[in-house]
Amino acid sequence: MKINSFFQCKVCQHHEPKWLGRCPECGSWNSLEEKSKDSKKTAPGKTEGIIPVPLDSIEIREGLRFDSGLIEVNRVLGGGIMKGSAILVGGEPGIGKSTLMLQLVGGIKTKGRILYVSGEESPGQLRMRADRLEIHSEKIEVFSGTEMASLLQFCNQIRPVIIVVDSIQTVHSSDIGSIPGTVNQLKLCSQELIDWVKSRDSVLFLIGHVTKEGFIAGPKVIEHMVDTVLYFDTGSSEIRILRAVKNRFGPIDEIGIFKMTDKGLVQVKDTADLFLTHRKKAPPPGVAVAPVYEGSRVLLVEIQSLVVPAKGGISRVFSDRIDAGRVSRIAAVLEKHLKIRFSDQDIYVNVGGGIRISEVGIELPLSMALYSARVNQPIPGLTAVLGEVSLAGEIRPVSHHEKRVKAAAKMGYERLIHPEADCPEGLEEDLCFSVSTINEAVRTCFMSEAS
Ligand code: TYD
Ligand code: MG
Repeated sequence: MKINSFFQCKVCQHHEPKWLGRCPECGSWNSLEEKSKDSKKTAPGKTEGIIPVPLDSIEIREGLRFDSGLIEVNRVLGGGIMKGSAILVGGEPGIGKSTLMLQLVGGIKTKGRILYVSGEESPGQLRMRADRLEIHSEKIEVFSGTEMASLLQFCNQIRPVIIVVDSIQTVHSSDIGSIPGTVNQLKLCSQELIDWVKSRDSVLFLIGHVTKEGFIAGPKVIEHMVDTVLYFDTGSSEIRILRAVKNRFGPIDEIGIFKMTDKGLVQVKDTADLFLTHRKKAPPPGVAVAPVYEGSRVLLVEIQSLVVPAKGGISRVFSDRIDAGRVSRIAAVLEKHLKIRFSDQDIYVNVGGGIRISEVGIELPLSMALYSARVNQPIPGLTAVLGEVSLAGEIRPVSHHEKRVKAAAKMGYERLIHPEADCPEGLEEDLCFSVSTINEAVRTCFMSEAS
């Protein structure tokens, strides 16, 4: 073995300092090949990790972010697209990934060229979609092949600043067979494209289909290779939510909100009451309104719950918008501290507008919704609730208290039930109700207006 060499797996590009019969990364046999460290064949980008450099001497390159042309996408990415980054855009088929990407590249201001690799749809279909979205850009080149070598050759020819691969499950490298979508194909093709963009400061968007069953060969297997993972999800029928689940260059709690219309995706600016059901009358039992904090804004959401006697005596929780474990825990706290039984009940929980909520501020409103459903008594008046609930039945403060309370008051809520805190300045004192235990919360929430 030459000193200046290493071994690279030809299947997954994994590096090893010495030869092994089986690649420890992807498990392929006899796949390690000797490579010279200064050979041209070394994947670009990989060399950076091979030769150590003093931390102090590494240059910080400013101005690497640029505007995606879509405020909601910039928000989710942490302030714009990072040059040289690889972004995975996952979501179920039909959710709007292609539409989003086409709108993004159609509106982006860049001097360079854009390559749209269309393995899912024919160029004709893509053109029809572009016409419908009124996208006319001579910068966008469409490549409808799916073979890696010809794709990379085309990349070298036109040197795009942005590459969209729609979808990564359709491309394949002939080096390792011709069936696209296998785990090895996904990994190898993604890595080659990532290496290509990294060494040229271009940007790569990989579209990946996620299906509820087919997670294994889906985009999950390339999540660790890319810088940013975005998932596109549906709220209600027309609402689409873009969420970062991994971001090397920004926070992951931001969400971007769109509406799917007949003219494509429209960014939603006024989101505060987007997920509320606007009712003329008081809500029925089982419903509570919560100001939740997502990313940098407050959204008012409606928690809907239904509690019915369990069939066969085994209690089950059906909840996919709020973690079912959290629902069970809250039900247990209510059972213990309020002496009402949930353990012989089936519990169904939904969030109006279909948005998934994972923050703790949902716990007190969830408790009130469950209690309301269980005792079949609606929460009176225009009431919004926020707070975290501890196992001991105490109500804990949540982040951005003041913003939440103010947003709810602005939407016309007349009673705000929340953890111990002063009423924010500028709000009427009689709007705010501090509670410190789950018992006190129930008493306050369900007291009738007359009493
Ligand atoms: P698409 O972007 O093809 O989804 P994906 O790439 O994630 O599979 O979007 C498909 C759906 O969006 C399709 O059902 C039609 C709808 N749609 C609209 O409602 N309006 C539009 O302007 C476009 C382009 C699509
Ligand atoms: Mg598509």
